[in-house]
Amino acid sequence: MVVPSFAALLAARITAALPSVPPGFDPQVRLSEHADLQADGVLALARPLRRPPRQLATDVADALPGGFVADVRVAGPGFLNVTLTGEALLGRVAERLADPRLGVGLPETGVRTVLDYSHPNVAKEMHVGHLRSTIIGDALARVLTHLGGTVVRQNHIGDWGTQYGMLIQYLAEHPADTSALTQRYKTAYALFQADPAFASRSRARVVALQGGDPDSLAAWHAMVEESTRYFSDVYERLGVLLTAADIAGESSYNPMLAGVAGDLAATGVARVSDGALCVFADGADAPLIVRKSDGGFGYPATDLAAVRHRVTTLRADRIVYVVDARQAPHFRMVFDAARRAGWLPPEVEAVHAAFGMVLGADGRPFKTRSGDTAPLVGLLGEAVERATAVVAAKNPSLPAPELAERGREVGIGAVKYADLSTSRTRDYLYDPDRMMALTGNTSVYLQYAHARLRSVLAKAGSAVPPVRADAPLEDVERALILRLDGFGDVVAGVASGCEPHRLCTYLFELAQAVTAFYERCPVLKSPEPLRGNRIALCALTASTLATGLGLLGIAAPPQL
Ligand code: ARG
Repeated sequence: MVVPSFAALLAARITAALPSVPPGFDPQVRLSEHADLQADGVLALARPLRRPPRQLATDVADALPGGFVADVRVAGPGFLNVTLTGEALLGRVAERLADPRLGVGLPETGVRTVLDYSHPNVAKEMHVGHLRSTIIGDALARVLTHLGGTVVRQNHIGDWGTQYGMLIQYLAEHPADTSALTQRYKTAYALFQADPAFASRSRARVVALQGGDPDSLAAWHAMVEESTRYFSDVYERLGVLLTAADIAGESSYNPMLAGVAGDLAATGVARVSDGALCVFADGADAPLIVRKSDGGFGYPATDLAAVRHRVTTLRADRIVYVVDARQAPHFRMVFDAARRAGWLPPEVEAVHAAFGMVLGADGRPFKTRSGDTAPLVGLLGEAVERATAVVAAKNPSLPAPELAERGREVGIGAVKYADLSTSRTRDYLYDPDRMMALTGNTSVYLQYAHARLRSVLAKAGSAVPPVRADAPLEDVERALILRLDGFGDVVAGVASGCEPHRLCTYLFELAQAVTAFYERCPVLKSPEPLRGNRIALCALTASTLATGLGLLGIAAPPQL
């Protein structure tokens, strides 16, 4: 059993001390600058309970002390400032140190989440939007799994449709063109635009491909394979969990599309309009086109088939789509149609975890240098190069193989963290200088905070000493313990809102708390029992930072 945080225990106690509370009442417990914890939520109940706010707060305050609560003061109009006992705080350090899960519960046990992320397109360059989806999706996969859930990763790559008929036709007509696949795609596209005869041969090729023509299929397979090798290379460099086995591309739904259209028409969810089979949703500008007037199926049909497959065959309790915010109308319509068709039952949650755009340092949509055929690989290489320089400058005596490894961990970590630490829905600025800064909310700062703790622990010797709960505590120590205590709540919060940035903010504040602790409290030079207790605090903080970074997919090297 995981021991709940003091904040959670206090919230429960406050709720119990009130005569009645409305559903969903939140006592709003948080870390306090005036005491250990503060609760601001009681105030809001004064009106519904018809009580003067300060009096209501005083009644609650009187009922709280005992156990871990040492003292409660009413402040301002009716806020509660709560001081905990030193024994409870130090006892918690011992408890968390003994718990390999560091206070993180298993609320996702028995929950299957189908996670749709990364999803680049065959024969096209993976762009920064795909990078964002890959990084956010990877963090969510790790967090949900850590919370006891089952994650079914689905890489919904674009690998079907007219453009692939076009490319196959081009390859058949230009066997001597051996430029990179993405380049040939661009050439083919230009030809498609300029030459109506080629365009019509391309359309015929799509029909052949979708009809199972062996030559077209062979060419298609080769193309998909070449692209997936490139995707795998990017995933490997990034160190994300995705593998080739997670690919469930648009093409995999091809055999289901006619059934999808037929069922939607039969149940009246879709109807024919101007020759196309459409689902009309309330308030939407345009319908969702299930089958085009030429009989072909597009992106919406594929997503409808995917929803049905994910619920029925993959047995999803929750489906999360990590896709950029511009596709919000598409997913609203897909979810709405799937609900009406009964394919997405009310107990299955469908979430569009939308993210903002990636902007360059100039504030405009991020563009990679033209002519670069593998821009993401180049981008990541550049980050690793810069990080290697940063690490070398800080630690010139690091041997070359270690330097290379640290440079990779710091550089890739920086790219991921810069992305994850921005609230998902906001646009995010890709700025290599800022993401590699040693101070501020960066992964490098967290990695250094962690490495510094490890070096203190290495000097302290082997075992972490037992915590002495009767020792005095400085304010900075109390603050650090309370931060550590909140880890489980934060990780659970990341999962419920699909918001990795909450974990980033937490880790940054934890690193700041431990820095303040260092400045005020000597560790190895203190007398016992302070020395032992402080070593224990360092050990718990180091483990929490390393676990937290690990959940974001970022390495925590013991030395930098
Ligand atoms: N391949 C698409 C793109 O690059 C994203 C696919 C998102 N997932 C989905 N189920 N529609 O925009």
